[in-house]
Amino acid sequence: MSRTKLVAANWKMNLTVPEGLALAESVTKAAASRPEVEVVLCPSFTSLRAIGEHLKGGKVRLGAQDVFWMDKGAYTGKISAQMLLDAGCKYCIVGHSETRGRFGKSEIDSNLLGFFSDTNETVGLKLQTLMFANLLPILCVGESADERKQGQTDSVISEQLRAAVTNLAPEECSTIAIAYEPVWAIGTGDVCDAQEAGRVCAFIRLRLGEYADLDCASQARILYGGSVKADNCAALFAQSEIDGALVGGASLNAEEFSRIIFAA
Ligand code: PGA
Repeated sequence: MSRTKLVAANWKMNLTVPEGLALAESVTKAAASRPEVEVVLCPSFTSLRAIGEHLKGGKVRLGAQDVFWMDKGAYTGKISAQMLLDAGCKYCIVGHSETRGRFGKSEIDSNLLGFFSDTNETVGLKLQTLMFANLLPILCVGESADERKQGQTDSVISEQLRAAVTNLAPEECSTIAIAYEPVWAIGTGDVCDAQEAGRVCAFIRLRLGEYADLDCASQARILYGGSVKADNCAALFAQSEIDGALVGGASLNAEEFSRIIFAA
């Protein structure tokens, strides 16, 4: 099964609109020379519309970093799927470890962690909401350093995946991109060994096949994320079960991110 490679940029809480537009311009040029790779930019909510206007009609897609599952109402500070569509989004990240309150190298006080409170259950609700709105999810799963040490990598990922897709129809599962993002690798520079990343991505596909069906699972794209850089991505992309990357820090640098697109 040949799957279109996907390289997504998670800008997190970085870049003003002018800064984002300048970066989007460079990324658009790089993406034009790799038409066989799908490229997605996920800016902050406040930049979505401006970046969306800039990307309109081109092949680079717009994605959001999160969504709330209610349609509308008294949910101060939340953003609905309809609002994301309205801003021009096609993709949305869901269940990122930072929205789950799980940080690789924590830069925030431990007593603030409770404010980042996605659970497996809320991730499932968000995923259903995105499906209903025809937005394509990039679902993040991954174990913490302690969980890996205790040999729980596969069981943690299985449970995150099961809870997320439990209410989806099998054919919906084929449209999800799942990013294997070991928490300990995010923003730390400590990239996962390429073979181990490939093994976990294969495991994710196997599990998805059990929760949905094998045919749908074979169509879903499985990405790796966590300290992906221009000089380590080739080994990751060489793994047959890795269909692309979700890139944080390195996506903020035009040259670095362009090199990742070229390598995909
Ligand atoms: P990183 O982040 O590339 O900075 O490690 C990846 C992510 O959080 O999606």
